[in-house]
Amino acid sequence: MQTVHTINELRTQVSAWKQAGERVALVPTMGNLHPGHIHLVERAREWASRIVASIFVNPMQFGPNEDFAAYPRTLPEDSRQLAAAGLDLLFAPGVAEVYPRPLEAMTQVIVPGLPAVLCGASRPTHFIGVTTVVTKLFNMVQPDVALFGEKDWQQLVIIRRMAADLDTPIEIIGIPTVREADGLAMSSRNGYLTAEQRAIAPTLYAVLRTTAERWRVGERDYAALEEEAKARLTASGFQPDYLEIRRADDLQRPASDDAARSLRIFAAAWLGRARLIDNLAMEGG
Ligand code: PAJ
Repeated sequence: MQTVHTINELRTQVSAWKQAGERVALVPTMGNLHPGHIHLVERAREWASRIVASIFVNPMQFGPNEDFAAYPRTLPEDSRQLAAAGLDLLFAPGVAEVYPRPLEAMTQVIVPGLPAVLCGASRPTHFIGVTTVVTKLFNMVQPDVALFGEKDWQQLVIIRRMAADLDTPIEIIGIPTVREADGLAMSSRNGYLTAEQRAIAPTLYAVLRTTAERWRVGERDYAALEEEAKARLTASGFQPDYLEIRRADDLQRPASDDAARSLRIFAAAWLGRARLIDNLAMEGG
């Protein structure tokens, strides 16, 4: 595995592969890798012969009171895992390589509408940072395909919309969430949990499953389903940020004639220092 820190070195390698007719996949990450990230790298082989991963803790997607400074940076251990997974190229730029001017002076990529709901309601500039850095990574790497996790479903929907709107010639692939044995979605932020909180954390997924099951057997009072689920989270020790049933493709609220559209349940909840998110398809209703 080769590791590069500059856009120049990255482009030299990727162009050589493309000239040789190889297909290139990109897996963008912020590092502190866990098996969910590594799974994206492994799945990338299905679409490409060369796999590039990026590790960049993107300051533009963190709010002023969020965990940018505290976000875990573990490049040596991440590199070992990526090499073991068969990654071809790791791109790990510094902040000045990605943002040569102050953040507020940089061009932004803004997708209207979708970023205002769910996570965007409490993190108003988060998705501007995500769409801006993902556009830049797409332009730096110029991959044929890029893989994203369904754990961040809203992010995936926004990136798909952005790529469609900007005619980006990159196939966007969504990969199902990798979970711990007890159901907790793997996340770099799980490391913020104390042992006691870690024991409670799987309740988030359990509540999503119960709610999806209540819907499957016929409950259609969405507000009641959401309120019950939030109450259960609060009783377990979480501080729910949101818990909402929305259409999977455009994140709008289900309308009464939406029976044939696929729905998903989305939640974010604080547990101590960690803001955990998860989502689940509502199937078989
Ligand atoms: P990060 O949180 O590091 O996640 C990188 C990729 O891994 C994302 O596509 C995310 O959805 C996926 N991922 C995380 N946990 C997962 C799990 N348990 N199962 C499957 N996939 C999982 O998401 C970001 O970074 C950033 O916003 C980024 C897209 C890199 C832009 O900065």
